[in-house]
Order: sequence, then C-alpha cells, then structure tokens
Amino acid sequence: MIKRLLLCAMAGFVIATTFADEGMWLPNHIKERIKEMRKMGFKLKADDIYSADKASLKDAVVQFGGGCTGEFVSEQGLLLTNHHCGYSSIQKLSSVEHDYLTNGYWAQSMVEELPVPGLTVSLLVGMEDVTERLAAGEKREDIIAEATKGEGYRASIESLYYGNQFVMYVYQTYRDVRLVGAPPSSIGKFGGDTDNWIWPRHTGDFSIFRVYAGSDNQPADYSKENVPYRPKRHFKICTDGVQEGDFTMIYGFPGNTQEYVISDAVEYVANVSNPMKIAMRTQRLETISEAQSKDVAVRIAYAAKHANIANSWKKWQGESLGLERLGTIEKKQRYEARFAAWAATKPEYSTLLDSMRAAYASNTKGYFVRELFNESVGAIEAYGIARKLRQATSATAEEQLAYRRKLLIDYNKEIDRTIARRMLAEFMARMPKESIPQVLTDEINSRDGIKEYIDSLYNNTKILGNDTLSNDELLADPMLAFEGIFDEIVKQNRAYTYRNISNVPAIEKWYTTYMQALREWDKERAFYPDANFTLRVAYGTICGYENADGEYHTHLSTLDGVIAKENPEIYDYDIPQALRDIYKNKDYGRWSIEKNGRPTVPVCFLASNHTSGGNSGSPVINGKGELVGINFDRTWRSTMSDIEFDPSICRNISVDIRYVLFIVDRLGHAQYLLDELKVK
Ligand code: ARG
Ligand code: GLU
Repeated sequence: MIKRLLLCAMAGFVIATTFADEGMWLPNHIKERIKEMRKMGFKLKADDIYSADKASLKDAVVQFGGGCTGEFVSEQGLLLTNHHCGYSSIQKLSSVEHDYLTNGYWAQSMVEELPVPGLTVSLLVGMEDVTERLAAGEKREDIIAEATKGEGYRASIESLYYGNQFVMYVYQTYRDVRLVGAPPSSIGKFGGDTDNWIWPRHTGDFSIFRVYAGSDNQPADYSKENVPYRPKRHFKICTDGVQEGDFTMIYGFPGNTQEYVISDAVEYVANVSNPMKIAMRTQRLETISEAQSKDVAVRIAYAAKHANIANSWKKWQGESLGLERLGTIEKKQRYEARFAAWAATKPEYSTLLDSMRAAYASNTKGYFVRELFNESVGAIEAYGIARKLRQATSATAEEQLAYRRKLLIDYNKEIDRTIARRMLAEFMARMPKESIPQVLTDEINSRDGIKEYIDSLYNNTKILGNDTLSNDELLADPMLAFEGIFDEIVKQNRAYTYRNISNVPAIEKWYTTYMQALREWDKERAFYPDANFTLRVAYGTICGYENADGEYHTHLSTLDGVIAKENPEIYDYDIPQALRDIYKNKDYGRWSIEKNGRPTVPVCFLASNHTSGGNSGSPVINGKGELVGINFDRTWRSTMSDIEFDPSICRNISVDIRYVLFIVDRLGHAQYLLDELKVK
C-alpha cells in the first residue's frame, strides 16, 4: 500500500514538472509522446495505437450515437458504452410491459438482441492532414468527395489550433445497432443527479450493444439477414484490476475544450455566461423537481429532461468554482502581460492582444444575447414545439396531428406554463433593452403583465392538445404568434452560433495568429489541439487526489459504498433487491476482491486522464492495451479542465470493468456474453 501511494505521488511529481497528464493528443501524432508514455508504463508501440495501413487500437474505438464513445470487445461486433449514452435507446425500446429502463435487459442469445431504430455507430476509417492541399487551392468539397466513395462513408475537414491546421476525418457509419444488455437504471444511474460529477461514485454506468453489417461486413439497413460486424480490432478485457500508479490511456471523442483562450474569454465564461445559465436552470429545475415530487408519472416523463438540464447546470457550477480556485483569470492575465512584453518588439504581434480584446468587447453582447435567448425563451417547450410545427406546415391536418402527438410525448403543460412565466420574466429582466422585441413589450403591457400574457397563450393555444387543426388554424394559433415574435432575434443569433465565444469568426481569426505567436514564444509548452469531437488519446495514471485540506480521496470505490448509500426511500439510491441479496450472502464469485480484510467488489476508479464531454463511454486502457474500465465522468474539482487542467486535482471517473462483468454475471446471468468476452 505504501509502495502504491509512493508510486502515485511520484507520478504526481512527474506530472507537475512535465504536465504528463494534460493533453488530448491526435492519434497519428502519438509518436511524439510515446517515449513519455512508455516511461509511465505503456508497453505497446505508437503504431499499435494508430496506423494508417494496418489494424490498430483505433479500429476498436467508435463514435456512439450523437456524442459518445464506444469500444468493440469481441470479434463479433460487441460494443461497450455508458448507460447514460445508451439511455435514450433503452428508453425507446421500453414500454409499460417491457420497462428495460427500470428492470434492465439481458439478451440471452443473438436473436434476443433488439434493433434500435435510428441508432448509428461511426468508425474512423482514416485521417489526413489536408492543410497544404487547401492552401494549394483545392476545394474542400472536392477533397471530401474523393474520400467518401465507400458504402456509408462520410468525411469532415476540421480546423485545429484555430485554423492553423486542417485534418480530414473519414468515417464509415453503421446503422444496424442492437441493444444487447443494460443494467437496471438503479445500477446504471445509481446516485442520479445527486452524485453526478462527484467522487466517491458508485454508478454502474455501462450498457452493451452489437453492430450488425451486411454479409460483406459493410454498413446495411436493419435486416434479419444481417450478421454481426467483424471489427478489425477489439479490446481484450483485463480482469486483474487497477492499482494506484498504473498507466491508463483514454481513447475517445472529447467534444469541446478551450485551453488557449485569453483572460477575456475566461472572464466571460466565469462571470457572465455561467452565472446567467446557472440561475436560469436553477429555476427550471426547481419547477420540474417540485412537479416530479408530487406525481410519479411526471417523475418518469421528465427524468431524461431533468438529467440533461441538471448535467450542464452542475458542471458549470463546478467549473466556475474551479476557475476561481485556480485563479485562472489572473494567471492568464500575467501570462498575457509576459507575452505582450515579448511581442512589443515584433511588429506582426505587437498589437495582437489589443485586437483580441477589442474583438471580445464588440462581440460579447451578441454572444450573450444568443446564450440568454437559448436558456430563456429557448427553454420554453411550447416555443420549441411551435417552431417545429411552423416548419412542418405542408403536412395534412392528420399528419400534423400525428406529428404534434409525437412532440407532446412526455410533455406537461402546467410545468411548461410555469417555466414559461419564469423564463419570460428573466428574458425581460436580463436582456439588453434594444434586443427586446417591441411587440413583446406591447403584448405584455396590453395584458397587464407577464403572468397574464403567458396564461392567455396557454389557455387559448390549441397546439398543445388533441384537436385536428387546419394549416390556417395552426398559423393563427397564439403560440405560433408568440414564436414569431422572436424571428428577428433568432436571425441575429445565427451570427453568434459557435461553440464558444472565442469561435465567433471575428474573434477566432485573431487566434489563428495568436497560436502561431504562442508557439514561437512559449517554446516549453506542449501544444495539443482543443477538443472538437475528433479522436484523441489522453494518458495518465490511476490516482487519488487531495479533495480538501487533509482529505485524500482514494482511487477505488467498492460495493460497500453502494450499500452504505443504498436507501429504498430515495429514488437515486434505491437498488435492486437482488443486489442486496448478493451483498448479504457475499455471493461475489470470481469478482471478489479483498479490502480491509473483507471481501467486496470494485465499482469505480479515478485516474488523471484529461477528458471532456464526449469521452463518455471511452475505453480505459492499461499499459498492455487491454480494457480495464469505461470512462463516464469527472470529479467536482475537475470540471474547469475544459479551460485549465490542473494535474494535481483533475481526475476522470471510470466504471471498473470488473463491476461491469459482476453485474452481467451475477445480476444478468448472461453467460453467453461472458463466453463471448472470453472471461473465464
Ligand atoms: N456527468 C456525466 C456527463 O457529463 C454523466 C451525465 C449523465 N448522468 C446524469 N446523472 N445526468 O455526461
Ligand atoms: N459524462 C461526460 C459525457 O457524457 C463525460 C464526462 C466529462 O465531461 O468529463 O461525455
């Protein structure tokens, strides 16, 4: 134990001096990192991770659905990802008679695997630096057209380092993906929103799918005739477990980081954007939670919405706190002052920071208006429904009703009415005066106030009910009139629809130069491109951290912690009776480990890998390239790592593969999966 702690502390020391754990590296540039990785315990070669012409680990990593990562774990296309990544698919397949969300699902053979309409999995076929081709005048469309000749191919050219480098990613998308297994939500979502972004954590956040292909192994629409996809590579599972100090690598698709932004951008995030978004969502969550606590049906209908709203809401709070703790704004200001001193004698850079500051000053309001609009009026469900209906007016009245019914699944008019009142009040109070549509002010005044105005909309609209409406009736509906009031603001917001404020073109163009200048000036800094939903490698070590003065958080959680939190009275902490029985009888089988002289089962672990949203479901790989866990979260003190990564406290959270197998085995009794995974 002492040896282990020392190892981690040593790793921490190395980290502090070389920033080994910070970074999301391009797989084809791992050659430049491999020496350091090997020092930390990685045993494979750079081209085992990525190779342009032979099978490598990259062939075992996929983009799962819209924004998650997944990994192949068998020759027959078996795929692991998080429960929260599979959630909407599992929900789609669930009904009152077959409530897989609540009870879990375990196919006992391939015929029981359930096709998920619309779910896709994308494999990275290859990547190519096209910076020079573009500079030579080749057209993007031509480069992409040439690269996407195969079945299911698509390609995109992504800018790295704010337009200094362009890489084309070619993907092949498989569209017959089936649900194989999922734990009950009480395991897969254990701790719910309460434990989200928190350590110690005890969530079995995994689900299992399988990719199917035509007999030629190529993508195909769903068909009974399809066969399991045969991946070029899959991960071997390691059940030996993890020890503090062990090397770990995360291979996946992180979505959005902004490590190089100047202090102005951090000020915007920490002092303007986050506080506004948090305040708006606090109100929405209050309204939803109150309704949920009174009615079980509402609790279920709004579960996914609540989880989505709360996930970012909580993350932003941790992020603001983290930025303050680190003093990121002041740190960046000092960095910029030193940069300015260096740049002063260089004509090409001497006015750069001033230009950047001026660009923020003149674009901040526009960006804020867009963000505030999205979080206020954009958060009113009836507004979104009206908008979709306006765009679908060509349908017949019956089709339109069917479409409306779909939009109204899980919709609660009274929750939405309350949210609409609160959000419109916030819109009026927080919006710069000149951005408030005059018609809106007039409507509110003519009805004696926001509450009365909202009530008149919700009492008189027909789009939230079951009436058949002609197109004329639809267009004359008060809710569509309300929606139309914001046309102008929506149009103006398009100019600001970019991932971060720093990506607004008028600001981003300066970053192209700033990145070049930083490379010249800050020669010691290890540059890696910000995350943008493209495949990255992050590496670090299994490691606990000091959460507060004198309070060390160890790297592993166990079933004992699940049982300590477990409480049938609290929705987030209720567990299946079967798990209680297993615990009572210590019926752990081969998954038993010893802790403090007593048997238990490992559940989650911490490591120092640099991850972000989109890394959910990513394989956690040990030094031998084997799978030891599935990434799903970060700790509370880590959430600012999208802007500043602090190796001493930033930790990603993974579910231990042994807990996954324990659940599949002891709870799911899915022997056929264990056989396929070759877990003896
Ligand atoms: N925080 C994790 C992520 O950003 C998990 C989110 C899902 N879990 C939840 N309780 N909402 O996606
Ligand atoms: N839970 C996040 C996701 O779904 C990953 C955790 C993070 O943001 O680090 O992508």
